[in-house]
Amino acid sequence: MFLDRVKPLDAILAAAEKKSLKRSLGGLQLMLFGIGCIIGTGIFVLTAAGAQKAGPGLMLAFAIAGMICVVAALCYAEIASTIPVSGSAYTYTYATMGEFLAWTVGWALVLEYAIAASAVSVGWSGYFVGTILGETFGIVLPASLSGGPLALGGVEGGLINLPALAIALLVTVLLMIGTSESAKVNAILVTIKVSALTIFIALTLPQVDPEKFNPFLPAGVFGGWGSGLGAVGAAATIFFAYVGFDAVSTAAEETKNPQRNVPVGLVGSLLFCTLFYIAVAAGAIGNIGGQPITGPDGIPFPAGSEELARQCALPAYSAALVCSDEALAHVLREIGWSGVGNALGYAAFLALPSVILVLLFAQTRIFFVMSRDGLLPEILSKVHPRWQTPYVVTAVTGMAVALAAAFFPVGQLADIANAGTLYAFALVAIAVMVLRRTRPDVKRHFRVQGLWFVAPAAVSGCLFLFFNLPLEAMIVLPLWSFVGIAIYLGYGRRRSHLGRGIIEVVDDVAGDETLIPIHPPRS
Ligand code: ALA
Repeated sequence: MFLDRVKPLDAILAAAEKKSLKRSLGGLQLMLFGIGCIIGTGIFVLTAAGAQKAGPGLMLAFAIAGMICVVAALCYAEIASTIPVSGSAYTYTYATMGEFLAWTVGWALVLEYAIAASAVSVGWSGYFVGTILGETFGIVLPASLSGGPLALGGVEGGLINLPALAIALLVTVLLMIGTSESAKVNAILVTIKVSALTIFIALTLPQVDPEKFNPFLPAGVFGGWGSGLGAVGAAATIFFAYVGFDAVSTAAEETKNPQRNVPVGLVGSLLFCTLFYIAVAAGAIGNIGGQPITGPDGIPFPAGSEELARQCALPAYSAALVCSDEALAHVLREIGWSGVGNALGYAAFLALPSVILVLLFAQTRIFFVMSRDGLLPEILSKVHPRWQTPYVVTAVTGMAVALAAAFFPVGQLADIANAGTLYAFALVAIAVMVLRRTRPDVKRHFRVQGLWFVAPAAVSGCLFLFFNLPLEAMIVLPLWSFVGIAIYLGYGRRRSHLGRGIIEVVDDVAGDETLIPIHPPRS
C-alpha cells in the first residue's frame, strides 16, 4: 500500500518542457556557483571540531568525505538533468519510488537544509562575536548571550546564542521580501571567500612544523562505532563542509553542453574544495598544532560535549585550535598575523549569511512543493501577493532555524544535518539506478559513465559516513523519521493530491504549475 503512489514522470517532464530554461552556464561558471554554495562554516569553523576528533588526521578526513561527495554528486547530476523540476531529492524519489519514500526523503531534507542553516548561523556567530564585536569594537558579549546552554552541549555559562538567532531571523526576513542572490553577488562572495582561504594557506603552509603532525592519527582511523572519533568520524562531521553541491547538480538544466560541463563544474568544484580544505587543515595544524584534548584514558572528549567545553574554559587550553569558535582567524592571530586574521574574520562575517540564504531558500521551496502536493497543510504554500514569495512557510521555517541556532552548538547541528543529508543522497543514488531500469527511454542531458559502479559507491559511501557519525546524531534520523511517518499516516496519506487523483507538478512559486486531474477528485 505504501509504494503504489508514484508520480507519473511524463507529467513532470511535460511541465519541465514548458519551462525550458535558457542554457547559459559554462563549466567554469558552474564551478564558481558550486564553490559559492559549498564553502562556509564547514571550513571556517568546523576545522576545530574535526581536529578534536582526528587531530592531524583531519586532512585524511577531508579527502575521504570529498571522494564520497564526488560520486554522490554525479548521481545527483544525472537525475537532476532527467527530472529538472523543483523539490530536489523529494521530487526525484516521488517520480521513481513513490510517495511514501518521497515523504521520508522530504522530511529528512529538513535536517539537510534547515538544521544546516542553523549550523551556519552558529558558525557566523563565532566570527561576529570574536572578530566584529571583540577585536574591532572591544565589546565582550557575555557567555550567557553568545552560546547555547551547557546542558545541550553549548558553552560554559551559555544561555542563548543571540547573534545566531538574529542572523537567522534577518535572513528569513530577506527571503520573505523576495531577496535572492544574483550571480554578481555570488561571484563577489566567492572571490572574498577564496581570497581569504588563499591568503590563509599562503601565510601558514610555508612555515608548517612537521612535528605538529605527530601523532598523525591520535584517535586512529576508526575511533569506534558511535564515538564519532578518528579520521572517519571526522570525515562524517566535515562532510558538512561539502554540503551544497546538490545546488550545482540542479543547475544542470541551465548548462551548455551538459554532458561535458556538468561533470567539469561538479567534480571540478568538489576537487577544488577538497584540495583547498586539505591545505587549510595542514596550514592550521602545522602551525599551532591540532591534537585533541583527551580524558585521562587518552580518548578525545567528544566535540561539542560538556566535558570539552569545561576543558576549553581552562587557561591551559585558551589557545588550542580545537577550542576556537573562529578557528582560522584564531590561527592567524596566534602566529602574529592579527590584522590578516581579522580580515579573514570579516570575510566569514560577510560570506556566511549567503550560505544561510541558499540553505533556507532550498528548505522553503521543498516545503512549498510538499504542501502543493497536499502532504503538508495548504496554508504553507500561500504566496504573498506583493512579494511573490511563500512567506508563511518561510516565516515558520526561519523561526525554527533561529531557535535551533540559539540553543545548540555548531558541531552537533552539523552532525544532525549530515545524518539527513546522507540519507537523502543515498536515496538519490538508488533512484538513478531505478530510473535507468524503469525508464531507459527518457532523455538524460547528463549521463553518468559507469553508473553501476558510481551509484553503488555513492550509496555505500553515504552509509559508511552515516555509521561513523556520533551515536546521538545517528539516532536523530530514525526518531525524526518516526515523527514524519506518523504525520504522513495521520495527515498526508489522506490529503495527498496524487492519492485523490490529481497529478500536480509545481515548479514555480509564482504559480507556474501543471495541473492534470486524471479523474474527478473524490470529495
Ligand atoms: N558547506 C556549507 C558550509 O560549510 C554548508 O557552510
